[in-house]
Amino acid sequence: MSNKLEILSEIIANRRTTKPQLMNGKLIEEKTILKLLELANWAPTHANTEPWRFIVYTPETKTKFCKAHAALYKLHTDKDKFLLATFQKLEQMGNLASHIIIAYAKSGSNIKIPIVEEVAATSAAIQNFILAAEALNIATYWGTGGMIHQPVFKSFLNLNTDDVVLGTIYLGYTNEKKEGKRITTIHEKINWVR
Ligand SMILES: Cc1cc2nc3c(=O)[nH]c(=O)nc-3n(C[C@H](O)[C@H](O)[C@H](O)COP(=O)(O)O)c2cc1C
Repeated sequence: MSNKLEILSEIIANRRTTKPQLMNGKLIEEKTILKLLELANWAPTHANTEPWRFIVYTPETKTKFCKAHAALYKLHTDKDKFLLATFQKLEQMGNLASHIIIAYAKSGSNIKIPIVEEVAATSAAIQNFILAAEALNIATYWGTGGMIHQPVFKSFLNLNTDDVVLGTIYLGYTNEKKEGKRITTIHEKINWVR
């Protein structure tokens, strides 16, 4: 194997989702966050629409986001479905993270490109981002819990109704990285046509 592929393989296979609660509170320098975002910007993009967008909550503003997220949950959840535990989890989810980034696909810059392709390109950008983070031993959590998929979340962020929120990425450092696991091997997901 070439040296470059060995390094890339290690980064890809070692990247793990780390729950924000398992982060340790250590902060990431802003120039490092910017470097990761610059690498996100190299994702493939049909017709050069470059649809990925990132809203970055810093160590100073992450708590504001978490409180607002929890408040949205409370305000827009039927009383009989509301769980205090979920509310508190959302409110405290960023306590040990450094930054929280909302990733969304901007729709409509080229009507010939269907939104599924803009979502695909944005997912590729997120993957660039989290792999680059892994290369720097930065822990990441790509989550879609809480209000992320609710229309009201887009209003909260002043997004257009056609934009698609792909998730929140919690970033930080951790002392507790879990083992990777896959339910099936790649062989069970390939249909070779020979
Ligand atoms: C689109 C997307 C949404 C996800 N949402 C959640 C989530 O809401 N909560 C969660 O615990 N993990 C979430 N994850 C992370 C997965 O749980 C994780 O990727 C999976 O368990 C495999 O573990 P690994 O990332 O360490 O390989 C999400 C991952 C993706 C790609």
